[in-house]
Amino acid sequence: MPKLIVVNREGKEQAVDGAAGLSVMEIIRDNGFDELLALCGGCCSCATCHVYVDPAFADKLPDMSEDENDLLDSSDERNEQSRLSCQIQFSDDLDGMRVTIAPED
Ligand code: FES
Repeated sequence: MPKLIVVNREGKEQAVDGAAGLSVMEIIRDNGFDELLALCGGCCSCATCHVYVDPAFADKLPDMSEDENDLLDSSDERNEQSRLSCQIQFSDDLDGMRVTIAPED
């Protein structure tokens, strides 16, 4: 099973199994990282699933929708690595990707 590497807000890194087909948000949440609130459950309407994605994987990520872009704009913590983790479907291609949970807004 492909691995996702999650860095929490304290900088602690943990590799977790990620079933292909789940969203990165679901994998993080299901592995007990309660600091990722994901309040809207993945509907792209809350921005509490904000992560920074390893730039080495940027080319493999799905394009950002206008909704995702607008929501990320509402965050003071946005940077060029920002994505909403509910909008990234995990796959074998993303094996070994590192995501860092963004600070709370
Ligand atoms: S979980 Fe709400 S936008 Fe991702």
